[in-house]
Amino acid sequence: MSTGLRKGLTSYGDAGFSLFLRKAFIKAAGYSDDALDRPIVGITDTSSDYNPCHGNVPTLIEAAMRGVMLAGGLPMVFPTISIHESFAHPTSMFLRNLMAMDTEEMIRAQPMDAVIVIGGCDKNLPAQIMAAASADRPTIVIPTGPMVVGHHRGEVLGACTDCRRLWSSHRAGEIDEAEIEVVNGRLAPSVGTCMVMGTASTMACITEAMGLALPMSGTIPAPHAERVRLAEASGRRAAEMAVSGGPRPSELLTPGAFRNALTVLQAIGGSTNGLIHLTAIANRTPHRIDLDAFDRLGRQVPVLIDLKPSGQHYMEHFHHAGGMPQLMKRLGDLIDLDQPTVAGGTLRDVVGQAEDVPGQTVIRSAEDPIKPVGAMAILRGNLAPRGAVIKHSAASPALLQHEGRAVVFTSIPDMAARVDDPDLDVTPDDILVLQNAGPKGAPGMPEAGYLPIPKKILATGVKDMVRISDARMSGTAFGTIVLHVTPESADGGPLGLVRTGDRIRLDTPGRRIDLLVDEAELERRRAEQGSGATPATPDWAARGYARLYHDTVLQADEGCDFAFMRRPDQA
Ligand code: FES
Ligand code: MG
Repeated sequence: MSTGLRKGLTSYGDAGFSLFLRKAFIKAAGYSDDALDRPIVGITDTSSDYNPCHGNVPTLIEAAMRGVMLAGGLPMVFPTISIHESFAHPTSMFLRNLMAMDTEEMIRAQPMDAVIVIGGCDKNLPAQIMAAASADRPTIVIPTGPMVVGHHRGEVLGACTDCRRLWSSHRAGEIDEAEIEVVNGRLAPSVGTCMVMGTASTMACITEAMGLALPMSGTIPAPHAERVRLAEASGRRAAEMAVSGGPRPSELLTPGAFRNALTVLQAIGGSTNGLIHLTAIANRTPHRIDLDAFDRLGRQVPVLIDLKPSGQHYMEHFHHAGGMPQLMKRLGDLIDLDQPTVAGGTLRDVVGQAEDVPGQTVIRSAEDPIKPVGAMAILRGNLAPRGAVIKHSAASPALLQHEGRAVVFTSIPDMAARVDDPDLDVTPDDILVLQNAGPKGAPGMPEAGYLPIPKKILATGVKDMVRISDARMSGTAFGTIVLHVTPESADGGPLGLVRTGDRIRLDTPGRRIDLLVDEAELERRRAEQGSGATPATPDWAARGYARLYHDTVLQADEGCDFAFMRRPDQA
């Protein structure tokens, strides 16, 4: 028997009166006793005029409600925060934990036997899954789904790998003002999330692989009827889960599920941000993400998906080629098929239903991979004692082993002011270094790791240089870019000690990133910096949420969650 309205009843001594009061108020909205007697499925509403990636949320909610009611449950829709990448100042990452807290507490506070979370734009699914893991009610995730592709002059376009590429061409003078304006209207031609393998697609695929969403939910295009039917089916399943009481996130988020997620992250050429989010999710459970184990997986797992930015195609092509079930089938023994899913069975059932699409070339076989090894590697060295990440599948092979002279920008404003200066002393062999762009430094660890190539270098036809920072990078970007250098420079990390003219060596096959300056000199610089003493609380963190963020945000290797949000046994 489900608990329905009785769930989470506040009782100050008279439970009967509390329920009486609760019913009296909800009846103000016109509910009947018959409706209120049913198992309740909460549904998050993350629609927002500021979030076009969630533009189909009202339709998905309507379909999910229909599914819940067809299965005999009562759907109750409630709002939470919604975060869009382009409309979140200072960064969307700054707000992810706020959304996770909001969602967790609203699930906990209100009476519901199961919950459906609907989200898509980069930070939303991670925040919602962090919340679900902590609240631990039976949960089903409905991703909003990827946009369909755009077209320009016979070329297929996608947000936002092509945004960057075409903007670079515009900066280099190859595309004029009028054409770039036309392109601007064609890069994001529908509601839904970026349709390359960026963070949103990465998290949607991982969510499906972890069994938190129904099969094919990661890839169905946002505007397709199939996604609406998926939402209806998710509603039905949620109503069943409301009655049976499971599976709960704690039953799904097992060590095997996290390993599957990391395997998929490598095999899809996923976003580096996925690693931070998975770490944060794991820290809400008794399990952990081990960066070195992730690196070892990367040496075993081939990249099988031919999607931008590592390959050629877009999410709708991945979907029509068979989606995640086909990918997991092709990964064979690398996936633990005994993991349970919200669909009711295990991944073995999901893979058993995978569609074999004749002639498709988007999902490769292990014998004919896009890259024989995974998308990402973890680097360590005196420049990144707690690690850094490189997405080598989207890098220039010739630069993966490179020694060069550092050209240092001390902050994002400093970079913006000088990077295109014709007098900037820089050559294509140099290494661009950006400091103070980490979780605390910027703040909010912006996607500034994709440092622009200086205009004068671009003009010579050079499109890539080694770039190093404590920032993140959009999953849609391409280049030889070392990210998430930990500890960050604003937290005393050695990245803050680099000076223009120092030599740096990147050795991706050897998994090293080293500053070739002797320890005595680094010690001298450290002492010098210490005497300049940065204030304990910078101006931006004087009060409110910013203060909470500044005082408690963890470093990238710990998922950038707030320290006190981890399970106590993870602290
Ligand atoms: Fe929302 Fe790319 S901006 S997914
Ligand atoms: Mg993104």
